[in-house]
Amino acid sequence: MGFLVLYCRSGFEKDCLAEITDKAMPYGVSGYGKLNAAEGIVRFYPHDPSAAKSLMSRMQFSELVFTRQWFLAEAELEGLPESDRLGPIVEVFSSLPAMTSLVLEYGDTNEGKQLSKFCRKFSNPARQALRKEGLLSAKSKARDRAEDGEVRGHLCFISGTHVIVGQSIEGNTSLWEMGVPRLKFPAAAPSRSTLKLEEAWLQLMTAEERMSFLKFGHTAVDLGAAPGGWTWQLVNKGMKVWAIDNGPMEEKLMDTGKVVHLEKDAFVYKPPRAVDWMVCDVVDQPAKVADRMQRWLLERWCHYAIFNLKLPMKQRWAEVQSIFERMDEKFAEKGVSYELRAKHLYHDREEITVFVRLL
Ligand SMILES: C[S@@+](CC[C@H](N)C(=O)[O-])C[C@H]1O[C@@H](n2cnc3c(N)ncnc32)[C@H](O)[C@@H]1O
Repeated sequence: MGFLVLYCRSGFEKDCLAEITDKAMPYGVSGYGKLNAAEGIVRFYPHDPSAAKSLMSRMQFSELVFTRQWFLAEAELEGLPESDRLGPIVEVFSSLPAMTSLVLEYGDTNEGKQLSKFCRKFSNPARQALRKEGLLSAKSKARDRAEDGEVRGHLCFISGTHVIVGQSIEGNTSLWEMGVPRLKFPAAAPSRSTLKLEEAWLQLMTAEERMSFLKFGHTAVDLGAAPGGWTWQLVNKGMKVWAIDNGPMEEKLMDTGKVVHLEKDAFVYKPPRAVDWMVCDVVDQPAKVADRMQRWLLERWCHYAIFNLKLPMKQRWAEVQSIFERMDEKFAEKGVSYELRAKHLYHDREEITVFVRLL
C-alpha cells in the first residue's frame, strides 16, 4: 500500500486535500483523496503508491497549512477481531523499520473523542507487543526526547475495530499527537487568545529560532490588542509593547509598565520607529489584513510578523494560495527577501496564522 494520512480541523477536509494535491505536484506526484465530511482525517493516495514514501521524505510538514499532523500509512485494517486486535497490527509493523515511539490517534471530532479512553487502555498492550517483537525500542523515549530522524509509529483509530497503521519521521511531523498541543492557559493572561500566539511560536518556529527571535528587550506592536492576551505573551518574553486598539486593555497588564496603549486604527497606525515584532489579531477581510501586514514588512517597520487571516469563504485553500501568491509577487517586485510559514493552528477556528520574517 502507501498513502498519506493527514489530520485537520473537522470541516476543513476539502481544503486539506486540495492543498496536498496541489503541493504534491511539484514533487512529480499526482494522486486522489478520500475523505468523510467532518471526520478530521484525509487520505491521499498517489496514483503510484510507491511515490508516497518519497513524497513524505522530500516534502516538509511545515509546508502544509491545513494539515495538523501526517504519517505514511502502510495499511488500513477494518474488522479487527476484538479477541486479537494486536495480531494484525504487529504483522503490519513487522515489515517496517523499527520505531522509537508509538502514538495512538483519532480524528479531532466528537466521535473521535469517544475513542480516547479506548486508545489510553490499548496503548500499553500495543507497546508491549511491539517491544516483544523488537519493533519498538525497549524504552521508547518520551516525546520531548525523540530525536530527528527517528521513526515514530502511528495507529489512527477510526473505530475500535478499524485502524490505519503507519509511520512518520521525527523532525518532519507535528510535535504533538494528532497535532493537538496540550497548552495550559496561563492564569495571569487576560484572554484565552493568548494560547494562539503561544501555539504559533511553537508551531511556526524551531526551538533555536524562538531563542534567537524572541528576545528580552525586543520591541513589539500588537494591532487589535485588547484585552491583551497576545500583548501578555510578548511582555512575558521581556518585550516592550505598543498595544493598538480602541477597546480597553486589562489593567493588571498595563500595571507592568511594559505596555503603551494607543486608541488608534490598526490599519492606519504607523510606528514612529521600527520595532522587532508586529502581531495582528484584527478580524477583517483577509486580503485587506495581508496587504497591511505586507506594507509593514516592505517598509521595514518590523522584522518579524505574526498575523491571522480569517477564512469564512468556502474555498479556503484557493483563497490562501492567491493571497500568498500576491504577497510573493509584491516582495519580488520590491526585491525584498522573506520567509513565510503558515498553519491552521489547533487554537484557530475559521482563520489561519501566518509568520513572516525578513531575511
Ligand atoms: C480577536 S480580538 C483581539 C484579542 C487579543 N489578541 C487578545 O489576545 O486579547 C480583536 C481586536 O481587534 C480590535 N480591532 C478590530 N478592528 C480594529 C481596527 N481597525 N483598529 C484597531 N483595533 C481593531 C477589536 O477592538 C478587538 O479588540
